[in-house]
Amino acid sequence: MDGLEKALSHLSTEKTCKTHSIVDGTPRCNWCGAEIEPMVKLMFKGREKPFGAKRCSCPEAQAYWIESDRKLEADKAAREEYDRRMVIDQLFKQSLLPSRWRDRTFDAFEVTDENRQAYNSAKAYADNFSRETKDGLILSGKVGRGKTHLVAAVGMELLSRGHSVIFGTVTGLLSQIRNTYSGSSRETEQMALKRLTGCQLLIIDDLGKEKVIDPKTPSEISWVEQTVYEIINTRYDDNKPFLITTNMNIFDLPKKYPNNGDAILSRLLEVCRGVPMDGPDWRTRGMRK
Ligand SMILES: Nc1ncnc2c1ncn2[C@@H]1O[C@H](COP(=O)(O)OP(=O)(O)OP(=O)(O)O)[C@@H](O)[C@H]1O
Ligand SMILES: [Mg+2]
Ligand SMILES: [Zn+2]
Repeated sequence: MDGLEKALSHLSTEKTCKTHSIVDGTPRCNWCGAEIEPMVKLMFKGREKPFGAKRCSCPEAQAYWIESDRKLEADKAAREEYDRRMVIDQLFKQSLLPSRWRDRTFDAFEVTDENRQAYNSAKAYADNFSRETKDGLILSGKVGRGKTHLVAAVGMELLSRGHSVIFGTVTGLLSQIRNTYSGSSRETEQMALKRLTGCQLLIIDDLGKEKVIDPKTPSEISWVEQTVYEIINTRYDDNKPFLITTNMNIFDLPKKYPNNGDAILSRLLEVCRGVPMDGPDWRTRGMRK
């Protein structure tokens, strides 16, 4: 008797699974003993042999299968939920969103008459965001008005829905590229650039705070200016949206970026809606009378 034959002869006499046994070559229900149609019949040594068994329709077998299907479904749902959480964890890690901002949600934002419009714009933006979204927002206003809070809230909402979002100041975002210049970096400049240009939403916080002109070579177009232009232009070409916060009057951008400022501004104004933010400085609110 070879190995396969031995295994199959064993199957023909023993209880083969929870639901049925093969008795004299025929599958029978373990509960009611009724003959059940095999799942398949295969030719073996010139004889037809049954393998597996369909579901018996007796009440005990039915009850077993209902419970078994329920467990399988529950396991599948748990596995899918686990996978989804892993993806979202990874998206949060890649987002570069600092821990300080992780609790700045829409719920944690107090809506006042002065910030209601901005809140509504940011909330509607998050609610309506999809892979097809091309347009963005520029939140502008003086310090402490809640601009970063609102864009962080949008970012977190989208990350938890599985969108790739990257958050940072110009300096922080560009350091992603600069870091690749060190010999120990595993990432290439192109890979870092691709993350910034390829994510579904790029949040640029505090545009205009960065140092753009290199004081050592003030007449040359700086690496910062060149790289910011490249990121914005690539995303613009690919219809990928931006959320921007700034303290400056956005029309002053060309003063900050003397070579590409007009081109950057023109693109941003085409694809972003301006959202002014007013009201008190929330950082010093408790100190004022
Ligand atoms: N409406 C609000 N409800 C609750 N907290 C708020 C609100 N607005 C702002 N804050 C809080 O006040 C602090 C300052 O807000 P935020 O950093 O968002 O201001 P900003 O406009 O980005 O300022 P800056 O221009 O200086 O960067 C944050 O801790 C933020 O969570
Ligand atoms: Mg801010
Ligand atoms: Zn049965």
